[in-house]
Amino acid sequence: MKVEALPIVPGNYQLPSYEEARESFSWSDVESVFSWSMTGKMNAAYEAIDRHALSFRKNKVALYYRDENRSESYTFFDMMKNSNKAANVLTQYGNVEKGDRVFVFMPRTPELYFTILGAVKSGAIVGPLFEAFMEGAVKDRLEDSDAKVLVTTPELMERVPYDQLPALEHIFLVGDGIEEEGKFLDLNKRMNEASTSFEPVWMEKTDGLLLHYTSGSTGKPKGVLHVHQAMVQHYQTAKWVLDLQEEDIYWCTADPGWVTGTVYGIFGPWLNGVTNVIVGGRFKPENWYKVIASLGVTVWYSAPTAFRMLMGAGDALVKEHDLSSLRHVLSVGEPLNPEVVRWGMKVFNKRIHDTWWMTETGSQLICNYPSMPIKPGSMGKPIPGVEAAIVDDQGNVLPPNRMGNLAIKRGWPSMMHTIWNNEAKYESYFMPGDWYVSGDSAYMDEEGYFWFQGRIDDVIMTSGERVGPFEVESKLVEHPAVAEAGVIGKPDPVRGEIIKAFIALREGYEVTDELSEEIRQFVKKGLAAHAAPREIEFKDKLPKTRSGKIMRRVLKAWELDLPTGDLSTMED
Ligand code: PRX
Repeated sequence: MKVEALPIVPGNYQLPSYEEARESFSWSDVESVFSWSMTGKMNAAYEAIDRHALSFRKNKVALYYRDENRSESYTFFDMMKNSNKAANVLTQYGNVEKGDRVFVFMPRTPELYFTILGAVKSGAIVGPLFEAFMEGAVKDRLEDSDAKVLVTTPELMERVPYDQLPALEHIFLVGDGIEEEGKFLDLNKRMNEASTSFEPVWMEKTDGLLLHYTSGSTGKPKGVLHVHQAMVQHYQTAKWVLDLQEEDIYWCTADPGWVTGTVYGIFGPWLNGVTNVIVGGRFKPENWYKVIASLGVTVWYSAPTAFRMLMGAGDALVKEHDLSSLRHVLSVGEPLNPEVVRWGMKVFNKRIHDTWWMTETGSQLICNYPSMPIKPGSMGKPIPGVEAAIVDDQGNVLPPNRMGNLAIKRGWPSMMHTIWNNEAKYESYFMPGDWYVSGDSAYMDEEGYFWFQGRIDDVIMTSGERVGPFEVESKLVEHPAVAEAGVIGKPDPVRGEIIKAFIALREGYEVTDELSEEIRQFVKKGLAAHAAPREIEFKDKLPKTRSGKIMRRVLKAWELDLPTGDLSTMED
């Protein structure tokens, strides 16, 4: 397929020439920007905040925070003091020590960011949770990681089964009128009393920084561990791909529960000393445009689902706001439809730059830079310092235009360090030839642009969130009426995919709309709203292999009216 490329818009970009940079770049050259390259003392939160607070950027705004009730700004110096307070509280009252897991489960407020930075300064590994998680999801993650400290709100506490989590020693609550008792402490009160000075706990390159749980096609969510040296790539990609420059006002719309919200909502911008916008509350197209117009956002990083929803809200709404401050717009998380790119050209007069990466890869790897022509529908090219290829199942590199496994040559700084408690799972990502295999299928064209084709496994991407079908199926069969369940992603124009469940009921249950809704709510309450099936179809029996595995590809074929393929392993 031939697509019309969108030409480069001339400008002063941080990466002036992709080709030249690819030839001469080495990751170790990047290290000289960090103070640890001189002092030998490393901590990613110190580099992101204190390094600037102690420089000419001291009084520069680090954070603009906006939600329905709050409108606040904090300089780098303020961020240093507040994160130091949080670090003091966590170490003094939470006994946090190097390597302990500290989880945050709360809405996007300034306190969340102080806490994350403070926890990193205290040497902890931070586990961020989506506010939408329900009890089962919270428990799985705190249990697998043996979390020692949790920071949450009184409202969310009802979803924390702390009596079933023996490793959890301290719970800090953020809110009003908190009564301190036993393991429960009032974070704000303690922070008000805390010192603004704190000497960060100095870390090694491969000491833990972030623990992000993500879904695969089998088993429970897995904990992807990222380490302090990842900051090298957080910094460099934010510079080259987000093209962050001194005067920018940057807004990443992602929640820290997702890796985009930590890497490009915290570390990427702040390691570059750039003003960062954080917006709390629910998504509302009108509010989003207001944020851009009122703060003069220049660089904006969001996701296809959000762009599609904005598209759905109509072009008239765009025209009501002055969005002329925007100079660079980017997308991540799912395939960016050419239609959305064309819409971006029409309403913002901007090319939307797609970027590809994964929780496991820790940073962007395949991207569209400002300084290269964009082919709508393509994820772009591997960044300098990264080698990508399409390989077959034996690890042999395939020629252009052949579909296969999207693979990356091992050895970039932000690569996950391990899967928590599961080294075997970590090893299973690699193929002969030192290839990290992404689980995505793709092809590369003659000009070196990569084109996403789909997931090779059954992982569902719904509204940019990665959902493991197995997790949803496991929850479904906990419902007393459900005998068997198979879950697939069904293509959807706005959400990319929606979750569709096929269910066989137990004896004595009848198919009704009420039951269908009850089952939906059961998953919503047990896992998370985004994991609940939007569609449920009842079947007498589900297609299974002789060994009893639900054949999701057959369900998908039924759904999409496609040939079912080889059925030789199906039970009679
Ligand atoms: O299938 C790819 C899709 O999202 C997966 C990674 O999901 P997650 O770890 O939740 O994402 C973390 C932050 C990126 C990938 O395996 N994906 C991600 N970016 C793109 C994408 N699919 C198509 N185009 C993209 N730009």
